[in-house]
Amino acid sequence: MTKNKWVVKSYGQFLFDAANISYSDLPFLTELFKKEDYDKRAEEMPFMEKLVSANIQPINDLYRAPAPYVIRDVTLKRGASGKKIKVGITGFTDLRLNTMGVKENIYAGYQINDPFEAAKKIIPELKQKVDIVIALVYMDQAMAQRIATENPDIDTIVGAKKIHNREEPQHFNRATIVYSFDQTKYLGELRYYLGGDARIENQVQRFIELDDKIPDDPQAAATVTAAHQEFTNDQNKQAQKTPATTKPTALETNFNSPFAGADSCALCHEEEFKIWEKTGHAHAMATLEKKRQHFDNECVGCHVVGFQKGGFQSLVTTPQLANVQCESCHGPGRQHVENPGKGYGFMPTPQGCTICHTVPNSPDFDFTTYWPKVKHGSRDLLKAGS
Ligand code: HEC
Ligand code: HEC
Ligand code: HEC
Ligand code: HEC
Repeated sequence: MTKNKWVVKSYGQFLFDAANISYSDLPFLTELFKKEDYDKRAEEMPFMEKLVSANIQPINDLYRAPAPYVIRDVTLKRGASGKKIKVGITGFTDLRLNTMGVKENIYAGYQINDPFEAAKKIIPELKQKVDIVIALVYMDQAMAQRIATENPDIDTIVGAKKIHNREEPQHFNRATIVYSFDQTKYLGELRYYLGGDARIENQVQRFIELDDKIPDDPQAAATVTAAHQEFTNDQNKQAQKTPATTKPTALETNFNSPFAGADSCALCHEEEFKIWEKTGHAHAMATLEKKRQHFDNECVGCHVVGFQKGGFQSLVTTPQLANVQCESCHGPGRQHVENPGKGYGFMPTPQGCTICHTVPNSPDFDFTTYWPKVKHGSRDLLKAGS
């Protein structure tokens, strides 16, 4: 909740025109879109008014409905210089999968309507008012393609949903479909080239990597630091509030968890342990601490052992499972520790590595250059067929 508030607050500093709402945002939206004191919040966080969704509506009278779309007047820069066109931006989200794997259409005070039906209703209405129709979608590519196929008035679909690879734009009907990266490590740009009659002739995508070569904007950096500080404080307060009697001690969790921690492996695999200690894997949590993101659930997953799989919970309750340890690669090892022997813990390479070494998080990853830096054991993994 704290993080979301900061996101909405800080997006107000930038020149955003619209953002789509996904089902994951709904618990936060019930806070934000409560009718009580809405105007006060909107004044504090003007970005609230730029959240769009054409298939989310409140199930009761306590909450506001988000706007189905926004319309912007855009003055053309090149060619027909000075000419104004209208751009309409709408949004759709997929339904949420519940813990049983069934799609749910009621969640956190909101109803999520079928996105395909919603699109057929809203797109023709929007097209009457604008020159260019953009749909923001939180759904997989197959669903985005269906929206494009069923709605010939859409010019562009911008999608998101755990797609890590750089996708080439796809074309369905008039629509160009592009997907954004997560974690904001790349700035996506889609450039429109318009013909004389202001119709789109071409759409060209590029991604700008927001690496060290691009310095932080000082105002944005200050906001990020303040936000990290606040949610680190919140996490600490939360941890302290948990009564001592219900708080699992490190030892207890260690005992219940299928993960044993690297210290237990060291007893019998001293050589491997010594090599591992010197690798970046052994310090992956310190890296997050430097960024003040050691309590950020979007980050810890790849920087620890067994997050959300019965392993690492937080630095307060399970500090012994912080960092990328033996079991991040070899799998849960408690049984092996209790009953050592052959047959435990072979990992497929490079597939096991690229679960974490994804394109956005490790753009230079190449097994033949990375493995030698963390290499241990007797097998020659770089020799074909070994
Ligand atoms: C009590 C001693 C002991 C502990 C503790 C222990 N191991 Fe082992 N480990 C063994 C033995 C014995 C073997 C079999 C070695 C052999 O016969 O080549 C083995 C084999 C392995 C293998 C190779 C598997 C195979 O089939 O050859 C891996 C990988 C491994 N251990 C990882 C770990 C990890 C990770 C931990 C900590 C979670 C750990 N071990 C803890 C004793 C131990
Ligand atoms: C559980 C997630 C995870 C897995 C699986 C993983 N890594 Fe990493 N790796 C990381 C993280 C996180 C870092 C950054 C560590 C830091 O510096 O904070 C990293 C850093 C590295 C580095 C640079 C640091 C150094 O020690 O020089 C190498 C090389 C590397 N990994 C190789 C591999 C290889 C090879 C595999 C597969 C055999 C692998 N990794 C599997 C998460 C993972
Ligand atoms: C999908 C897995 C994954 C997630 C999620 C992840 N990381 Fe990492 N991180 C890695 C890997 C792998 C490396 C090692 C990259 C390399 O050396 O090639 C790394 C390296 C780093 C580094 C050191 C290298 C650098 O880029 O400066 C920092 C800092 C870092 N991560 C911070 C974060 C933060 C902050 C988050 C949350 C926003 C995060 N990571 C989320 C996998 C991940
Ligand atoms: C970045 C991933 C990664 C980490 C972290 C890692 N290993 Fe491994 N380990 C491998 C790979 C890959 C191999 C070779 C293929 C295999 O055995 O699965 C291997 C091999 C081994 C072997 C077999 C040795 C042999 O000669 O056959 C042992 C034992 C082992 N690791 C123990 C450990 C221990 C103990 C730790 C922690 C101190 C650890 N590993 C950390 C990926 C990792």
